Amino acid sequence: MDFDFKEQFSLGVASAATQIEGGECGHNWNDWYHKGMIKDGSNPARANDHYNLWRQDADLMADMKIEHYRLGIEWARICPEEGKVNEDAITHYRDEILYLMDKGISVLLTIHHFTNPMWFESKGGFTKKENIKYFLDFVDLVANSFGDIVAEYITINEPNVYATNSFYFGEWPPGEKSLTKAIIVMTNMAICHIKAYQIIHNTRQSMGFYDTKVSFANHVRVFDPKNPKNLYHRICAKLLDRFFQSAATETMTTGNFKWPLKRDKDIGLGEYLDFIAINYYTRSTVSGFGDGTKQDAYKNDLGWEIYPEGLVRCAEELYKLLERPIYITENGTCDNEDKFRSRYIYEHLKVIAESNLPITRYYHWCFCDNFEWIEGESSRFGLVHIDYETQKRTVKRSGEFYTRMIEENGVTEELYDEYVKVQDYHY
Ligand code: BGC
Repeated sequence: MDFDFKEQFSLGVASAATQIEGGECGHNWNDWYHKGMIKDGSNPARANDHYNLWRQDADLMADMKIEHYRLGIEWARICPEEGKVNEDAITHYRDEILYLMDKGISVLLTIHHFTNPMWFESKGGFTKKENIKYFLDFVDLVANSFGDIVAEYITINEPNVYATNSFYFGEWPPGEKSLTKAIIVMTNMAICHIKAYQIIHNTRQSMGFYDTKVSFANHVRVFDPKNPKNLYHRICAKLLDRFFQSAATETMTTGNFKWPLKRDKDIGLGEYLDFIAINYYTRSTVSGFGDGTKQDAYKNDLGWEIYPEGLVRCAEELYKLLERPIYITENGTCDNEDKFRSRYIYEHLKVIAESNLPITRYYHWCFCDNFEWIEGESSRFGLVHIDYETQKRTVKRSGEFYTRMIEENGVTEELYDEYVKVQDYHY
């Protein structure tokens, strides 16, 4: 039951600007709310009010002994209009980062996490190749504004999830339903990542820093055929894997554009990540060209299968493509009552501890409950509970468990009995 973390393995937490900061910044999620598209009607302008309460959150993180923090910055806040830079926002984020570092918390900075300024969105956003330059200008600004204090970056969070939800399922802004557009967006985001990778490295090198680490946060899941003996199920599983993740993964990692992504003549073959960044949540069980969930499997409050072994199965695939240290940049679960989160964390950390892969970091998603995109405030993923009315933060049992694991560098039998044994999943 008990296990130790491997040497050089440490724990952090993750978040994204739009999900915690609050505020009307003129971005596509503010807009989506005003169009009445958030299921429970909650407003991202409220969220966790983290833009004002960031010191309190950093203090709490330090009290909880968290060692690494993956945080995002809001493009629309920094560039509220085309060509305009809000210096106050840059100062704000620098203050926050320096404060975290002062508390011994290392920072991994996400540049793009699903959210676009409306001025960019109204030009067609990532559907237009000619718009790539706006994103790269922003990357340049970020590298120049934070390059002296931040060494580690995520260029783009989950291009596949963004492209699929926004352009194929049409549930996220701008709400389109076109497979062709989703593929164009993935192609353009791949180009964005590779060019951003180069910009960040070059900028920091010109500042005299050679320890830069850049990657993109890759949302990967296992696609297993519902019936492994059924040829149609097997073909669909392979195709979905290709469309949703493996084509984009190979393209963004090596510059080798894989069908259905379209080759770009400016991009050469190379190695475009310094660490493998994995966001892992669940597995899809496939019996057709759509998302399916295994029957009789344990599921979280959003109906996602809980499948810890999948994390290592995905990591093995990515490591085969390019051998780099692995950070789990997101893993967590929607558990509104905090009834099984400790077990979930335990089981995922256990498969990591038992694997031979060089997984060196684990960032739990999420630090605090937050604005869960289309689900709004009603889906809770945090180690810390948020009372949205009062903005009161309360560490959950799973949050206590997390701190205890950090203190003990693993899970002792006592910890297991106290936090894990007492919890069960449901179907
Ligand atoms: C995203 C997060 C999101 C989480 C849980 C990930 O795909 O990066 O922003 O909150 O999943 O749904």
